[in-house]
Amino acid sequence: MRIGIIGAGHIGGTLTRKLAALGHEVRVANSRAPETLADLAAETGATPVWAADAATDADLVIVSIPQKNVPALAPGIVAKAKDGAPVVETNNYYPQQRDGRIDAIEDGLTESGWVAEQIGSPVVKVFNGIFWKHLLERGVPAGAEGRIALPVAGDDGPGKQVVLDLVDQLGFEPVDAGSIAESWRQQPGTPVYGKDFDADGVRAALAQATPERPAEFSTQ
Ligand SMILES: NC(=O)c1ccc[n+]([C@@H]2O[C@H](COP(=O)([O-])OP(=O)(O)OC[C@H]3O[C@@H](n4cnc5c(N)ncnc54)[C@H](OP(=O)(O)O)[C@@H]3O)[C@@H](O)[C@H]2O)c1
Repeated sequence: MRIGIIGAGHIGGTLTRKLAALGHEVRVANSRAPETLADLAAETGATPVWAADAATDADLVIVSIPQKNVPALAPGIVAKAKDGAPVVETNNYYPQQRDGRIDAIEDGLTESGWVAEQIGSPVVKVFNGIFWKHLLERGVPAGAEGRIALPVAGDDGPGKQVVLDLVDQLGFEPVDAGSIAESWRQQPGTPVYGKDFDADGVRAALAQATPERPAEFSTQ
């Protein structure tokens, strides 16, 4: 697939490495000029591009940047992707540590729902709850003992299936976590967040989640 990645840090850089190694054609961008990604490009074979060009003709787009920076993305940033291409977002809202207050999220909109509004596209939420080093190093083939499962939230349809399949290719067990309206079940502070559970563990943790925002992830 042709995959456009916006954000080249811990998660975007890790996904660039892993997806390029799987043979995907990766275009990757940060907030600066493509030249600043020369080392990552040389290491992986990915093509560094401006963020505004990352989604062009992509079969799948990934947005992986600090939540507070999402409004800085250009309007229509993912609009040039192929028709039906899913847009994955990996973001988390850390109001106290990094992002400052975002009223709509504090008022109850899911973190992914807010990203979708900002970029003007539906999104699929995955990779938000796994530490980047585990994403880099702990993928194993389907059926392997102790395979880490990852919840995938988004509207049902072919785009979501593409994302579920990609999670499997990356070495993790995809678990359908429902719609974006349900994606609060995998936000920071929930039972599944950061835990590296297997598929049964992920399903149980998603079911145990409660909707109130934990104090450490709120400014209320
Ligand atoms: N770190 C983890 O283990 C982890 C795990 C799961 C989810 N997450 C979430 O995933 C997201 C990314 O986390 P991270 O740890 O990868 O962050 P990071 O290491 O700080 O990297 C952030 C990346 O986003 C880029 N960026 C920032 N603003 C941008 C903009 N306006 N346009 C294009 N690119 C922009 C940065 O580019 P510059 O270098 O040019 O600033 C950098 O490449 C966050 O929401 C985080 O909460 C993180």
